[in-house]
Amino acid sequence: MSFLHVKLGLKVEKETVSLTSNEEEYYMSNGISRRTFLMGAAAAGVAIAAGTYFSWNGKNIPEEVKKGDVTYDVLVIGSGGAGMRAALAAAENKGLKVAVMTKLQPTRSASTMAQGGMNGVTKVTDKEDSVESHMFDTIKGGDYLCDQDAVEYFAENAGKNIYEMDYMGFPYNRQKDGCFHQRKMGGHAHARASYFEDRAGHAMVHTLFEQCLNHGIDFISECIMLEISMNGDNLNGVIAMDMRSGNILGIPAKTIIIATGGYGRAYWVRTSNPYSSTGDGIVAGMNVGIPFKDPEMVQFHPTGLSANGVLLSESSRAEGAILVNKNGERFMAKYAPEKKELATRDIVARAIATEIEEGRGIGEGIRAGVYMDFRPIPPERIRERLGQVWELSKRFAGVDITKEPVPISPTCHYSMGGLEMADFHTGASRVKGIYVAGECSCVSVHGANRLGANSLSEVLVFGHTAGDGAAAFAKSNNYAGSQDKLAEDCSRWKDTFEEVTNRRRTVGKTVPEIRDAMVNTMWFKAGVFRDEQHLTEASKELEALEKEYSHCYVGDNSHVFNTAFYQYIELGNLLQISHAIVQGALARKESRGGHSRRDYPKRDDKNFLKHTLIFKDKKTGKYRAEYKDVVITKYQPKERKY
Ligand code: FUM
Repeated sequence: MSFLHVKLGLKVEKETVSLTSNEEEYYMSNGISRRTFLMGAAAAGVAIAAGTYFSWNGKNIPEEVKKGDVTYDVLVIGSGGAGMRAALAAAENKGLKVAVMTKLQPTRSASTMAQGGMNGVTKVTDKEDSVESHMFDTIKGGDYLCDQDAVEYFAENAGKNIYEMDYMGFPYNRQKDGCFHQRKMGGHAHARASYFEDRAGHAMVHTLFEQCLNHGIDFISECIMLEISMNGDNLNGVIAMDMRSGNILGIPAKTIIIATGGYGRAYWVRTSNPYSSTGDGIVAGMNVGIPFKDPEMVQFHPTGLSANGVLLSESSRAEGAILVNKNGERFMAKYAPEKKELATRDIVARAIATEIEEGRGIGEGIRAGVYMDFRPIPPERIRERLGQVWELSKRFAGVDITKEPVPISPTCHYSMGGLEMADFHTGASRVKGIYVAGECSCVSVHGANRLGANSLSEVLVFGHTAGDGAAAFAKSNNYAGSQDKLAEDCSRWKDTFEEVTNRRRTVGKTVPEIRDAMVNTMWFKAGVFRDEQHLTEASKELEALEKEYSHCYVGDNSHVFNTAFYQYIELGNLLQISHAIVQGALARKESRGGHSRRDYPKRDDKNFLKHTLIFKDKKTGKYRAEYKDVVITKYQPKERKY
């Protein structure tokens, strides 16, 4: 449902509108409870307020940015949970000039699509829970590739964030005593995920956005980052394109925080991520010397809609949905006798892929799947806690989950890897003035497989840290960049735009042609199961596609809303990301977490209890791999059993 065309019984600025009886009937009869509706209405209130904010301004970019009259102390790239939490932390420091830049609108980031909840030990619902248990579950879930000192810091701080979000106005589902309720997600020993129905990310992003507006943070929206501009070792700022005008802007900044999210679109239709998840920040970071850590660690969420990869939350299984194959057999006990459907995502995804491969699935090719059956869950509970899952199944698969099972299959969901965070106490990367947070970063808390609902809490914990870290740097350092170099970089991008967008059709393949080929390569040769032969083929195919890309046809040379150019930039980023995934996967000759090699089916702690670091050579563009030991503190690696 688009909340924006719901008429509300709320007073929003000058307009008071009410729900018509037809609309009320629609929402109630389609299984959306009054509570859900009211919650949605509240979210819509924020959305409309935001819309009003931007129409008051009448612009997507502050005038001083257009004129080049401002140097930001902290410029956050990305408006998801990590970006906005970081901006808020930075803006707590009076006098600092803070902005969030996004290629979308501020509330449309991938975080908005997160569903199941956010973990943090509070003992509100489950008195037996503990920080040690959260830490251990996370490390075991990550197949021992997590840095344990970072996980300890994370688990110690995650609970505080649950309360902090409560004070900020997050509309939690609550227990009878009025406290937020927590549920148990896959791979966890206790109920520690707080949530708002199955729309936790949506609620989080709107809550943070309100706070950002309240703190006077600038928003620079519909602007894509093209490059981080450096002058030797000093940061100049970023080069970005204003989508509305096509103008190339140089935005000076003392510090930047890269919080641009993941890159699920490397797998295109088999991802739960939005179109915008194209790894832009990771590539920009690599270009200035930050290594891409553990790129091969891609998470395939077990339950995307077979039709199109759209996520059906793990909270479905937490609430009691089961997985069955085409013969009607509930098969998870074969793969995870104790936890069954609530084993970790890597295990459940492989179980589904195996059922399909061995002929017990339904459908063919990239859309083959098995069933998720919600009928063990009472319909009123579906309405209360799984409203979005109900709606997504209805809209995108034509299935009413209260009545029949829905076809699902694994979908690329999350990148455990990302830009190396060199210091998790400050969010600093190894390049001075550049900080990283959220899915585009690798702390490393999630190791080789992230647990459900650890992502939203990670963005809060480390977003906050990065905001504090960047603010501290900005307060104690003067701007050391060069505005001349910034202008030079802008001018180079103007030339690039003209060259790329004026190519003739005869020159090469189109962006969609290259993208489709990339996706097939990535899904079938670097997907849930991998091996030497397929990865080697993938590497060659990607190399050929990169050559095609260098002279591809974009087809639109206009300046206003040139989405073709945006897609060209995004495809370039995805190709580089894919290349790093495949290189990391080829070199890691073992199976661990989300990385499953058929030719090396066992975990190999002797040789691979270490992180991959991929560096990009600034001159040649070639990749080089280094390795770094995993930090082990309390828990020695042992075999995982669920
Ligand atoms: O399945 C889900 O609700 C996803 C949650 C997460 O990725 O943390």
